[in-house]
Amino acid sequence: MQGEKKVLYSAVQPTNNLTIGNYIGAVRNFVALQNEYDCIYAIANMHAITVRQNPAELRKNTLSLLALYIACGIDPQKCVLYLQSHVPAHAELAWVLNTFTYVGEMERMTQFKDKSAKHADNINMGLMDYPVLMAADILLYQTDVVPVGVDQRQHLEITRDIAIRFNNAYSPTFTVPEGVYTKVGAKINDLLDPSKKMSKSAENVNGAVFLSDDRDTIMRKFKRAVTDSEAAVRYDPENKPGVSNLLSIYSAFTGRDIPQCESAFAGCGYGQFKEAVGEAVADKLAPIQAEQAKLLADKEYLNGVLKNGAEAAARRAGRTLAKVYKKIGFYQL
Ligand code: TRP
Repeated sequence: MQGEKKVLYSAVQPTNNLTIGNYIGAVRNFVALQNEYDCIYAIANMHAITVRQNPAELRKNTLSLLALYIACGIDPQKCVLYLQSHVPAHAELAWVLNTFTYVGEMERMTQFKDKSAKHADNINMGLMDYPVLMAADILLYQTDVVPVGVDQRQHLEITRDIAIRFNNAYSPTFTVPEGVYTKVGAKINDLLDPSKKMSKSAENVNGAVFLSDDRDTIMRKFKRAVTDSEAAVRYDPENKPGVSNLLSIYSAFTGRDIPQCESAFAGCGYGQFKEAVGEAVADKLAPIQAEQAKLLADKEYLNGVLKNGAEAAARRAGRTLAKVYKKIGFYQL
């Protein structure tokens, strides 16, 4: 498999609950890509600790994300599916890449600035170094493409810069990766504040729909979603951010395009519209949640997946790291 197909890499942090935005923007696409590409998917627990985590929860969320990946249709036989901390090469390459990254570049990262403001009591080195670890993740596997949300664009750009910088300083070592930014439903916004991206750490939990929410919770959240006073289901993100966001969600969960969705709700009141959106989401999530629960009950299976994944990942990452160590002059035995 390796060699013919392009290498695709992505990762998700095992923090809190994933939202339907994470599902649409990330995990769902991972499934669609696994036949076409040589896919490597990670659970980025080393990134997660850049903001303080409760250890028991981090452990639990790790298995929960793994089960979710599989429940959504990611096939561990087809992809490399692994936990970042199981492959020491990530930390090792990140250290080397640190010496090819400037402090000023990291200080200018939007996400660093946002997170620093949000966690002002814990602006740790890891938070600042987050993009370098992400570069290490990607570059270790000679990745060609990285599907991510638009919020990760800056991190991908710096990954490319670091790769080019290293390649120029020595000789071609890293594949320079391309970012692929999901378009449809790439950005699902908060139900209560549609000017903001739907986030795992939303201020008001009612603004975010989590993949773990049951049907009643989902229906309640959509019922409360902010709309407008025009009473027309029309896609117009500028003037109708709430309704447009709901249309995006409906479109993403039903696979129908926006014009089709608009006509489906022509002349329909917002109450009925919101109920339909809630139902589409709940219908889609129910079987995934059932499968996830089933997988979580089989820890032996999940551990086996992680073990195989770590072995496969370490083998591939090790090759790149060895090349890097050689080029920079680390004495080899
Ligand atoms: N920073 C990414 C996010 O929060 C997660 C991530 C970590 C990642 N390493 C990566 C994504 C490598 C793509 C490639 O969404």
